[in-house]
Amino acid sequence: MIWAVVPAAGRGTRFGGEVPKQYLPAAGRPLIAHALEALLAHPRVAGAMVALAADDCLWPGWAELRGKPVLRCVGGGERADSVLAALEALPESAGADALVLVHDAARPNLHAADLERLIAAAEAHADGAILAAPVRDTLKRAGEDARIAATEPRERLWRAFTPQAFRRGALTAALRAAREAGVAVTDEAMAMERAGARPRLVEGREDNLKVTTPADLALAEHLLARR
Ligand code: CTP
Ligand code: MG
Repeated sequence: MIWAVVPAAGRGTRFGGEVPKQYLPAAGRPLIAHALEALLAHPRVAGAMVALAADDCLWPGWAELRGKPVLRCVGGGERADSVLAALEALPESAGADALVLVHDAARPNLHAADLERLIAAAEAHADGAILAAPVRDTLKRAGEDARIAATEPRERLWRAFTPQAFRRGALTAALRAAREAGVAVTDEAMAMERAGARPRLVEGREDNLKVTTPADLALAEHLLARR
């Protein structure tokens, strides 16, 4: 069994504005609708658990999408807290060995072929897998006054995307351990790495972008309108 976990409790401070970015429309639907549809479209995904802010009054109230359950829970102060809350709220039927696909609500352009390859990799590797892409630009380390202090080698550097796919029990334990240690993890793989796992990088499309700023929303609009 596979469940989708969608953290959507962020406030979008870098984006600005009144409405959190996951609820802004692109190609006629809120970003979170695109994210959920892409996950639930996979025949093996049983349903989705969405983590919302405690004071969220914009959630459209979907009980199901594509004929599959969309459940919700209250998220936390950091992304990792929201993901952990969602994992803990999953139904009992999603056992410790169930695969979970953690995917940002603000990442609307996931393609089915990438999801398929991610699931296959996560099933083949006990430590799980994430979508990612190799860094293509030359990397500079800044010194003072934004002067270049060094050029960093980019070989073997990747950008981590979502979805990130792990066994529910292992990911829950890894996120709890990071929290207890007071370590801020910025993605699920980082929590798993701390626990000694070596998740697999699955090269995905570069246009699986996370909307962070208004310029990203314009790009997402363009990409989604062409699909
Ligand atoms: N998220 C969450 N709970 C939090 C923080 C973030 O569920 N406490 C979610 C966001 O809603 C988003 C995803 O995690 O879908 C990726 O986070 P990010 O892009 O950082 O979104 P925000 O935290 O909302 O934006 P910002 O950091 O600019 O405030
Ligand atoms: Mg954030």
